[in-house]
Amino acid sequence: MTDLEYLKQEITRLKRERDAVILAHNYQLPEVQDVADFIGDSLALSQHAARTDAKAIVFCGVHFMAETASIICPDKRVLIPDPEAGCSLASTITVEQLRAWKQEHPDAVTVCYINTSADVKAECDYCCTSSNAVKVVKSIPEDKPILFLPDMFLGAYVAEVTKRKNIYIWPGECHVHAGIRPSLVLEMLKTYRDAEFLIHPECGCTTSMVYYFGSGNGNGSGNGNGCALTSNGNGNGNGNGNYACNVRFLSTEGMMRYAKQTSAKRLIVATEVGILYRMQRENPDKEFIPVSSDAVCKYMKMITLDKVYRSLKEMVYEVKVPEDTARRARKAIERMLSIQ
Ligand code: 13P
Ligand code: SF4
Repeated sequence: MTDLEYLKQEITRLKRERDAVILAHNYQLPEVQDVADFIGDSLALSQHAARTDAKAIVFCGVHFMAETASIICPDKRVLIPDPEAGCSLASTITVEQLRAWKQEHPDAVTVCYINTSADVKAECDYCCTSSNAVKVVKSIPEDKPILFLPDMFLGAYVAEVTKRKNIYIWPGECHVHAGIRPSLVLEMLKTYRDAEFLIHPECGCTTSMVYYFGSGNGNGSGNGNGCALTSNGNGNGNGNGNYACNVRFLSTEGMMRYAKQTSAKRLIVATEVGILYRMQRENPDKEFIPVSSDAVCKYMKMITLDKVYRSLKEMVYEVKVPEDTARRARKAIERMLSIQ
């Protein structure tokens, strides 16, 4: 038996012994996904955490995700195998910065992306994820100004889809997705004309892709293919014939669902490369090509199988949010969940 097989076997044994479940984000290492009871995006993971009967949750993802699980399940023991697994996007705004921003816009409703610390969530009216950001923003009365934080590409995407003018966006970005530039995607669009394109709205290419495909601002040689600016399946068509037209903006779980349902045999994927393992495994008859093989989140990759094993063996590292912060942050998360 290899070391990896032995570790996997021990993890399975310890899981039973500790009455624990392992939740893993779509970007986790293949071997970590292999031992997970559930794999998903940040929304699906928090919903699964809320449903589980297990006493402990080993959260294989980054810190804000484990914090969210702990906020939703205060009676459960939530463990993260490496407490240093942070998120460059969540770090772009502190609670002090948010308070100062809110003072500048006292009438605004605050909507924070789930990629934020518990302290920041506690200061916000609504939480959202990439799979429901549009729905959350649409649920807010149109005359209310909105402070959207912290991702500027997701914010610009939401503003464009909702056609909302009174939305102020925090200039934060994820270093991994910001690196997926428009030129990379345009190059792929030229090369793979028969493929479908799945783009995470955190990507640095999102604004121009939305402009290009969503505004119909093509280069004039359109053949009426009807490019679709699509968020979870609802699109508006705009023609542009020089590039492949099937471009969709989706959360990681939205990508997984779409990959399964489409009849396309080749999909180009613009997000962190960890997602390709599950995509390929669940769709062996299709080909998945990353827009950038450099799109690697070093924080997600800090969760190794050794650390998962240690986490279960020693029941470390517990993620606990102070009760008052958790109570306020829970409100923002519950408001989001009630909008599904
Ligand atoms: P998802 O909610 O789409 O899984 O995205 C979370 C994330 O961190 C993307 O970088
Ligand atoms: Fe954060 Fe970016 Fe990593 Fe997602 S990919 S966890 S947004 S640093």
